[in-house]
Amino acid sequence: QQFLQTKQYGRTIRHIESCPSTQMLAHEEAQNGAPDGMVIIADEQTAGKGRLSRPWSSAAGKGIWMSVITRPELTPQQAPQMTLVAAVAIVRAIEELTEVTPTIKWPNDILAGGRKLTGILTELQADPDRVKAIILGIGMNVNQQSQDFPEEIRAIATSLSIEEGQPVNRAKLTAKVLDYLELYVALYVDKGFTPIKLLWESYADSIGKRVRISTLQDTYEATARGISEDGRLEVVLDDGTVRGIYSADIHII
Ligand code: BTN
Repeated sequence: QQFLQTKQYGRTIRHIESCPSTQMLAHEEAQNGAPDGMVIIADEQTAGKGRLSRPWSSAAGKGIWMSVITRPELTPQQAPQMTLVAAVAIVRAIEELTEVTPTIKWPNDILAGGRKLTGILTELQADPDRVKAIILGIGMNVNQQSQDFPEEIRAIATSLSIEEGQPVNRAKLTAKVLDYLELYVALYVDKGFTPIKLLWESYADSIGKRVRISTLQDTYEATARGISEDGRLEVVLDDGTVRGIYSADIHII
């Protein structure tokens, strides 16, 4: 908290040594009227969850495992883009505090050297016409060494300290992420998605490249073009048709 420059974000913090998942606690807090920008942060998660019900490895004291409860003035349709807002905030924070050059892999992975540094899990509490809360679950690999990762993800995961060659201060980084998050959420609410989209595209690893797209239904190749106003990845198929992708795994080829 001593490093924070925000008005709201991170001003109410619940810090827990160990819990199954900060995301679960954040849902409870949000239902009980938690203020905009409240942060639940844990040193260790024993059942961290990733997207698509995947587990998220959250070694004790090594990373930033937090859920930020936000209450922006957005419609439920505008909520999914908050993942991209968070991604931009995180890359800016990493750039400012380290020498690492992060890239964003659509929709929500932050990579360094092609390996995963950070994941974002966005969950919504809403009425049909109104957002009550958007819970941004942020998992950042900060001070792990390769042997701290479970064997099965060692080849695809990295941490800031692995990339940087020295430990990174977690408290400073957490504060910087919250600073940028507050700034970019306000920018999104005030000016719409375009400024965020442009920033996001400047960090994206796939724009202009050939990609393989795997959905539950099929797998095909196309060229990534950018993201649309509603946060979809736009790709150009070989016959020239443009398609907006809502949910898929993307591999650069
Ligand atoms: C992903 O890339 O699949 C998203 C990973 C999100 C992990 C974070 S860590 C803090 C919060 N609590 C959880 O259980 N998950 C998110």
